Amino acid sequence: MSGRFITFEGGEGAGKTTQIKALTHFLSKMAKETLCTREPGGTPMAEALRDLVTLGPTGRWSALEEMLIMYTARSELVRTIIKPKLEEGVWVLSDRFADSTTVYQGFAGGVPLDRIRQLHSIVLGEFAPDLTIILDLPPDEGLRRVNSRAQTISRFEKHPAEFYQKVRNGYLQIANENPDRCAVVDAGLPIGQISEQICQLVADKFNNELTL
Ligand code: TMP
Repeated sequence: MSGRFITFEGGEGAGKTTQIKALTHFLSKMAKETLCTREPGGTPMAEALRDLVTLGPTGRWSALEEMLIMYTARSELVRTIIKPKLEEGVWVLSDRFADSTTVYQGFAGGVPLDRIRQLHSIVLGEFAPDLTIILDLPPDEGLRRVNSRAQTISRFEKHPAEFYQKVRNGYLQIANENPDRCAVVDAGLPIGQISEQICQLVADKFNNELTL
């Protein structure tokens, strides 16, 4: 595979979408073709699953059922879009990926982490991002940002405060355990500074592949 797979992770309101746009712009200046996608979603089938899993009352699905839906959507997205694009040499940037399941359904939702690992291995084998940017923000600040936006509140934005603290701690634990793949960026900094840090991280990690 000659493209690179970069994922963005973080709690609610961490600013992933803005930072994906900034990195896309940076990579296009390096003459890299990019494709942005999101999870759950990214294909018509997976977007339909996104509506099923993100809308409605919090208790509609158990965390185990959410995990199964997330991996169904992920399997289709990886098979039909992500892998073919990487093989064409495209750099794929995804707003969330498998770490979201580990954190939301595992650390915060209570599904044992080894079950999630087993399912990951069944569905995707060893497939993993080349780089994961974790945008870290105190949950109060993230939820304040989300609530100030005029948009439908998702099932995942209706949990008690402890849930979001577990999400944050889960991401920090993943970063600690996977230092070669993950980089934590302070999402409380001004937007421009965050973008600079992310572009620098990408430039350092893939310096042989980018024409700076
Ligand atoms: P987003 O628009 O912030 O990406 O919202 C998607 C929501 O779905 C977010 O609250 C996190 C949740 N989610 C999971 O719980 N598990 C997953 O595997 C993924 C990809 C997302």
